[in-house]
Amino acid sequence: MKTLIVPTLILCLSIAILSEGQPLPFQMQLDRWEMLLPSIGISAMHMQLLHNGMVIMFDRTDFGISNISLPGGMCRFDPSDTAIKFDCSAHSVLYDVVSNTYRALKVQTDTWCSSGSVLPNGTLVQTGGYNDGERAARMFTPCGFSETCDWIEFPQYLAQRRWYATNQILPDGRIIVVGGRRQFNFEIFPRPDYHRYKGARFEFLRETSDASNENNLYPFLHLLPDGNLFVFANTRSIVFDYKTNRIVKEFPEIPGGDPRNYPSSGSSVLFPLDETNNILELEIMVCGGAPKEAFQRAYRNRGFERATSTCGRLKLTDPNPSWEMETMPLPRVMGDMLLLPTGNVIIVNGAEAGTAGWENARDPVTRPVIYHPFDHRFSVMSMSSRPRMYHSSAVLLPDGRVLIGGSNPHVYYNFTNVEYPTELSLEAYSPPYLSFTYDTTRPKILTSDKVLSYTRMFNVNISIPQFLTIDLLSVRIVAPSFTTHSLAMNQRLVILKLLSVTRDGLTNTYRINALGPSTAEIAPPGYYMMFVVHAGIPSSGAWVQIE
Ligand SMILES: *[C@@H]1O[C@H](CO)[C@@H](O)[C@H](O)[C@H]1NC(C)=O
Ligand SMILES: *[C@@H]1O[C@H](CO)[C@@H](O)[C@H](O)[C@H]1NC(C)=O
Ligand SMILES: *[C@@H]1O[C@H](CO)[C@@H](O)[C@H](O)[C@H]1NC(C)=O
Ligand SMILES: *[C@@H]1O[C@H](CO)[C@@H](O)[C@H](O)[C@H]1NC(C)=O
Repeated sequence: MKTLIVPTLILCLSIAILSEGQPLPFQMQLDRWEMLLPSIGISAMHMQLLHNGMVIMFDRTDFGISNISLPGGMCRFDPSDTAIKFDCSAHSVLYDVVSNTYRALKVQTDTWCSSGSVLPNGTLVQTGGYNDGERAARMFTPCGFSETCDWIEFPQYLAQRRWYATNQILPDGRIIVVGGRRQFNFEIFPRPDYHRYKGARFEFLRETSDASNENNLYPFLHLLPDGNLFVFANTRSIVFDYKTNRIVKEFPEIPGGDPRNYPSSGSSVLFPLDETNNILELEIMVCGGAPKEAFQRAYRNRGFERATSTCGRLKLTDPNPSWEMETMPLPRVMGDMLLLPTGNVIIVNGAEAGTAGWENARDPVTRPVIYHPFDHRFSVMSMSSRPRMYHSSAVLLPDGRVLIGGSNPHVYYNFTNVEYPTELSLEAYSPPYLSFTYDTTRPKILTSDKVLSYTRMFNVNISIPQFLTIDLLSVRIVAPSFTTHSLAMNQRLVILKLLSVTRDGLTNTYRINALGPSTAEIAPPGYYMMFVVHAGIPSSGAWVQIE
């Protein structure tokens, strides 16, 4: 087997990179918005892509009557529901990306502001919520669209109430559930099998809670390759060893003093973990948010403070990490940060003023920005037709598009006579890399191994109309996130080691041998989308299971 060497061709494509700020005149827009469905019956407050290509979505059971009925004429009686006690409408749907259709699911307990993670076997575990759902654990095991799989609920499962908590899948396949409203603790799923399990104290959450409005809910969690957790809450961040309940390291506070967590909702990502580097670099980025008192101001006197326009980058592997600040072309609160297969970061949804919370924001930011970490550059992208305010969400799809839904800043489903009516629609955003302009360099996965083992070789066969150079080729895996409230839980991207690339005779097909991830701390077991990226253009993703 020989390693392929192909002369580098000069890339001669019109790349519509927008200058910082406004799009240049006469520039071809390579990105695209499409309206997928004007209504899915509910507002997509929470979304999780499953490994069979379906996206499970839900809002809350106490919004009133949604625009879709429960299956089979079922109804739900809930004496504790604050909106309606007898409800025959559904609050969760299963969306099939390929056929662009959906069906109602039956969720009984209140899923409002909850959290989730997918187990290594592909079953979604979703935790907490409000009222009768605050201690619930729920499971959803993927099945075909025409089958009848549905939620299975365990209403009293959790050790504590979990409303606005964050989850992270752990290297051993368990899940850590951190915080929640007035919960300065964390717990592990499944529960350790002793009675009276209460979870473990986590004082950092008490310390970072602002008296007036917390500003540390939905803490940002990222699992680090040493098995510890990076935790960011309010303006502070630490490396936390959950096994011994010990703070291993505390970083400097993010400059500027603006809180970054709910309700001053910013967002965060862990940059791609690049296994092709000899030394694994770790860097996180936090973007957007709102000033400390913005929530109180919006809530009390309807004053809407301008959102934060800065991002902070922190290289955790530096000997003395310090924040490197960047300025976004647009200020943003409630933006969703997603890692694209290219390693660039899209920031989408949200508002320029106010905070999360009922009726608390104004001035929707309908233009996403794409951040290029390597050259520290933001591009302002095309505008969506819909404001996506509080309770909107976004997830990366296997075909490289970003699925966007939700937005409901009201206590009920309100479709008329309100600012920013409840959004039941689903849109897809296609980043520039999906443009036909790049078809000649776009890789296509023909076949690949479906199961990847740690440090074991695997094989992907691809075709590329015009192969440039092996230096521009990489294989990556992306974990599908549980997204809600501007936070993509469990999101991570790992660039895998390439062993060899060989051309199949004189054809356009190539055989790639690559190495499975090094450890379960780098890539916890489970289903990932695998992308081949060539000259900055990703293939469609293929599902692989890591075990
Ligand atoms: C509710 O669903 C009906 C179709 O079932 C549709 O005509 C209507 O526009 C939907 N309402 C909203 C607000 O999307
Ligand atoms: C995955 O594991 C969970 C917990 O053991 C179980 O309830 C579920 O049925 C499993 N899912 C599949 C697809 O086997
Ligand atoms: C929103 O909907 C609820 C329930 O249908 C209704 O009581 C309320 O008046 C609506 N609000 C507005 C501003 O229309
Ligand atoms: C890739 O192609 C080679 C033949 O060129 C074949 O032997 C191998 O099984 C293919 N790999 C997969 C994962 O299908």
